[in-house]
Amino acid sequence: MTAAHDTRRSIVLIGLMGAGKSNLGRRLAKRVDLPFTDTDDEVVKAAGCSIEDIFELYGEAAFRDTEHRVITRLLEDGPKILATGGGAFIDSRTRAKIGEWGISVWLRADLDVLVRRTRRRGGRPLLKNRDSRATLERLMSERYPVYAEADIVVDTGAEKPDAMVERVIGALAALREPGRRTGEVRP
Ligand code: S3P
Repeated sequence: MTAAHDTRRSIVLIGLMGAGKSNLGRRLAKRVDLPFTDTDDEVVKAAGCSIEDIFELYGEAAFRDTEHRVITRLLEDGPKILATGGGAFIDSRTRAKIGEWGISVWLRADLDVLVRRTRRRGGRPLLKNRDSRATLERLMSERYPVYAEADIVVDTGAEKPDAMVERVIGALAALREPGRRTGEVRP
């Protein structure tokens, strides 16, 4: 089988909380036979405490430093599918590393999808004790222009996950065509 992408690079899923990065990442990893890693899980392991505790005890800046170190290590450690935390690509240091070592795929979702999906799982300090719709709306306006720098943009929400996996694979293959640097994929 021809590789769907440049096999030396990791495929790095980016996007807001609730975009479905981990779910899609796991399925994509199986499909292209690469290891899957969730960078939030690795940050928790490295810090020895939960993300909520890191934010509360040490603050967001310390979380971003650990996240940057962990993502750098994972990228340098060989190709894989990485699901990143929603703020990772917003940190310019981490974004530069992802640009150097990976192919970034932005899972773009609309507000209703994000609100619905983030209700399913807690443990997100940025949404704790807040109006999550208003917070997500603000984060969309702050972050979407930065996520738009991704190599590939995929709209999520309407389709079944396995159909999305195939779309991402198609976009990765298209990226290999000479002269193609960016791709936008819609259902
Ligand atoms: C964050 C998103 C979270 C986690 C942390 C901060 C963010 O990851 O990294 O709570 O800044 O958007 P998910 O996007 O996987 O929920």
